Amino acid sequence: MKRTKIKQALNASSPVDEIVIKGWVRTKRDNKGFSFLELNDGSCLMNIQAVIDHTPEIVAALERIGTGAAVAVSGELVASPGKGQQWEVRGKTLEVIGEADQETFPLQKKRHSDEFLRGIAHLRPRTNKYGAIFRIRSELAQAVHKFFADKDFFYIHTPIITGSDCEGAGEMFRVTSLGAGSQEPADNDFFGKPSALTVSGQLSIEMFSLSLGDCYSFGPTFRAENSNTPRHVAEFWMIEPEIAFADLADDMDLGEEMIKYLITHILDNCAEDVELFAKFVDKTLMPTLENIQKEPFKRLPYTEAIEILKKTKKEFEYPVEWGMDLQTEHERFLCEEQFKKPVFVYDYPKTIKPFYMRMNDDNKTVAAMDCLVPRIGELIGGSQREERMDVLTARMAEMNLSEEEYWWYLDSRRYGSAPHAGFGMGFERMLMLVTGVTNIRDVMPFPRTPKSLEF
Ligand code: 4AD
Ligand code: MG
Repeated sequence: MKRTKIKQALNASSPVDEIVIKGWVRTKRDNKGFSFLELNDGSCLMNIQAVIDHTPEIVAALERIGTGAAVAVSGELVASPGKGQQWEVRGKTLEVIGEADQETFPLQKKRHSDEFLRGIAHLRPRTNKYGAIFRIRSELAQAVHKFFADKDFFYIHTPIITGSDCEGAGEMFRVTSLGAGSQEPADNDFFGKPSALTVSGQLSIEMFSLSLGDCYSFGPTFRAENSNTPRHVAEFWMIEPEIAFADLADDMDLGEEMIKYLITHILDNCAEDVELFAKFVDKTLMPTLENIQKEPFKRLPYTEAIEILKKTKKEFEYPVEWGMDLQTEHERFLCEEQFKKPVFVYDYPKTIKPFYMRMNDDNKTVAAMDCLVPRIGELIGGSQREERMDVLTARMAEMNLSEEEYWWYLDSRRYGSAPHAGFGMGFERMLMLVTGVTNIRDVMPFPRTPKSLEF
């Protein structure tokens, strides 16, 4: 017989005569004449309880199982006399699918620290908290696609192997097919030139935005930045919309709408899992999310942000001066203390931003924006793109970028150039925002960080 997922069984509207549940044992309690099994199959947070009367075969099977074992229970789905659940299984047969050695199975205790669980990332999805994180992660990814599909955006798969450093920050992982330690020149390498894992799909998505109109990409992104923070990983997923015939204000509008939409979607579709985080991870989660949903975000020019940061009595580790890049401590101060809601900081100094951002009339700042959110800091980084050929090439010359190498990018400005804008949202940072989880390593299935590549 086909298995019924626990989520479906718990949502049944009437008893079921014959049902098969397959899952992993969370607890086993033996009584005189019968046993209770709490089973979880990952389909939802809740376990289903199975009550099984002892027969010689059942007792023999029960002796082989403990926490962590995989089993199949067949029987009847009946109204549960116990409290806390509407339905339970009256088990008739118990099949041991996979035993779990009770001496060594690491998930015995009820609560383990996040640090401990990071060391067993292959088993942590079997816990309530991590099961919930990865169910929400899945739903959040679906919501991203739904948000854009409803707005008639096209989903473009931008390449993962690339020849250009979009952000110009020199944080790329090299890709090569030459043997380890090879001294051969890049000419002899697979592509006949240096290649790397992409840090952003932006340059490619811009080409599609200037062809199909509004587009987005959503894929893995790689950064070899050696920063060991709770917000950085070497491999993460980025959502990058690019909108045609649009300026920086349109870009901020889209970012704000998207954040609000994603929060609402998760609160509506993952209520049970989110509740776990509101109870055990971040007591302020619900008010924080509700505030983001209903308040319009603050929009603040960089120059004003610097003035605010200079005036405040709060002491920062990094001294504040015009021209600096904002640090997380400054970003968090602005949205958590000063404005108490998400803040778009825009019009940053050109000296700290990449070549493709649109030059403002002051010739000192560019039409860039970052969206800062409580607890995390930067969630979105974006800009209006420089669509004027002469300004763009002058800027590239200033930054020592070769026009030859970017010939295809420049073609888009040469033929039918048009104002356009876009941003990148860190998918994991968005997931941190909706769950209250404070370390990015804990919202990634298998995090990749400096000196850590297990699993
Ligand atoms: O601000 P970033 O570097 O922007 C870009 O790459 C643009 N090309 C995007 C665009 O305009 N299409 O990165 C965008 C976002 C950041 O705001 C942050 O949320 C996330 O990506 N991010 C990271 N997330 C996790 N680990 C890292 N190392 C990250 N670096 C950036
Ligand atoms: Mg950024």
